[in-house]
Amino acid sequence: MDYKDLIAANLSSCTGLDKEQVAGLIEIPPKLELGDYAFPCFVLAKTLHKAPPVIAAGLKDSPELVKGFDGAVTVDTAGPYVNFRIDKGVLARTVISEIISEGDQYGNRNIGEGKNVIVEFSSPNIAKPFHVGHAFTTILGNSLSNIYSRLGYNVIRFNHLGDYGTQFGKLITAYRLWGDEQAMQDNPIDELTRIYVKFHDECKVSPEREKELEDDARDNFRKLEEGEEEEVALWKRFRDLSLEVFEKTYKRMGIKFDNYNGESFYSPRIPAVVKMLEDKGLLEESEGAKVVKLEDEGLPPCLVVKSDGTTIYASRDLAAVLYRHEEFNFYKNIYVVGLPQQLHFRQVFAVLKKAGYDFADDCVHVGFGLLKFKDNTAFSTRAGNIIKLDEFLDKATEKTAEIIRKNSELRGGDMTDEEIARVSETVGLGAVTYTYLKAGREKDIFFDWDDMLDFEGDTAPYLIYTYARIRSILRKAADQGFAGDIGSADKLTAEDEYAVIRSLVDFKDAVVKAAESYEPFMISRQIALIARNFNRFYNNSRILNADSEEIRDARLALCEAVADCLKSGLDMLGIGVVEKM
Ligand code: ARG
Repeated sequence: MDYKDLIAANLSSCTGLDKEQVAGLIEIPPKLELGDYAFPCFVLAKTLHKAPPVIAAGLKDSPELVKGFDGAVTVDTAGPYVNFRIDKGVLARTVISEIISEGDQYGNRNIGEGKNVIVEFSSPNIAKPFHVGHAFTTILGNSLSNIYSRLGYNVIRFNHLGDYGTQFGKLITAYRLWGDEQAMQDNPIDELTRIYVKFHDECKVSPEREKELEDDARDNFRKLEEGEEEEVALWKRFRDLSLEVFEKTYKRMGIKFDNYNGESFYSPRIPAVVKMLEDKGLLEESEGAKVVKLEDEGLPPCLVVKSDGTTIYASRDLAAVLYRHEEFNFYKNIYVVGLPQQLHFRQVFAVLKKAGYDFADDCVHVGFGLLKFKDNTAFSTRAGNIIKLDEFLDKATEKTAEIIRKNSELRGGDMTDEEIARVSETVGLGAVTYTYLKAGREKDIFFDWDDMLDFEGDTAPYLIYTYARIRSILRKAADQGFAGDIGSADKLTAEDEYAVIRSLVDFKDAVVKAAESYEPFMISRQIALIARNFNRFYNNSRILNADSEEIRDARLALCEAVADCLKSGLDMLGIGVVEKM
């Protein structure tokens, strides 16, 4: 049973307010003695022409309010608030049995049934290294996709590859001049980067040389656009090889996409977009280019066709969103792209709206901050300041392995090398992932190895460790023939126990809020709270040798529920667990 849900339903039938609205108004009182949920009566003052405390007092005595609770909920008032208190034992039994029956799928709902949600994320550029900057969109987008699909939405994961633009003309020129076939096979992205840099270096040799190269590149791009076989084949090769490299990283991170339509896919659809804007009288000439003016929206004009007749980024996005709507009739179309592109998305959505497409309101730009390094020396050996994601992940798992090995040695070496490697991969990747998701997404992240791998800090290692510790308690219990018993879970009413229970109950709400605000940190914060509450309870209470068998079995059931909930929450973030570490 979902107590908050039932309270909202009862309040709704007593007050005539919409249930969703009531649910949004229900608060968690700041002090335990005030109860579990509180409803502020201010909203009713206007319609009822009464003071909120009077309304609260009137509501309190309505039998409707406690319908369906079997006496487990009592109602009280404090000034303008109606406070609901749920019997602690009943609450404990209810939530623990709910979690144990749902296991690591606890928190799932079906509120999104039948609705398509597109989550576009990662979207790296072909022929360029996949660096730590791409990690934010990749990790955040993956988590949002997980969260939406756990809520029952049909999620379609889009990777809007940057596979189009004049730079591909340059790459073709450079490849024909300097490309090394072996290097292309061994390390395509490094090779493509090398020749791309060489192209620009050569351009600096002399203005004549520059003109020659640029002309050739422009010519190649034109041929590519016109579908000339040889140029298309080269471009396709660059794309395929790059994608192979990206996919290795995705696989390592457990990330999948449903759709890899890159910018090139939308290019042939642009003329129709231009025509549509023209027909609607929205395109205006401006210094030879064609733009949609957005003065009324308080935005600079959106450039659709450049003065040389070529189309640009924004036109490809317009074509893309129209395609997505046509194909998927989306409920939401989410773009997980860095904050520097905020203006771009505002313009694209504003153009859509102006063209009469109301689904512009269902398009959301989910922006995020930057990753900054506290310790600049961490990667200082590399030329430039590009840090490749794979190398970053390698370093994270290596450092994790050092810690895990040391801990294992302290326990007399209870892990094999193979186990250490496997566990470190999960924990190391988890640590990186959590670092991106532990705070509001628009904040910059100050990255530090020690913070990230602190087994006692606000980190993935701490959470995974808590999970593993619980699993080890449960294994030990099983060895002694004990197991959790939901039937006695109503004995869990001590303060430490209640804190754990309460944070488990609130997890479900956190998931919904995370989706609504596109903030996975609402989930990371909640599971961090659950883990802290659990560890406090664990340090203060005896489990296997509790005072009575009933208490022992109740506590074991609580342990199991906490492990399931942690696993569920971590999975929503894109983080795995280990049974032992
Ligand atoms: N490839 C682009 C970049 O790396 C990001 C694409 C964002 N998505 C979009 N629909 N414009 O900057």
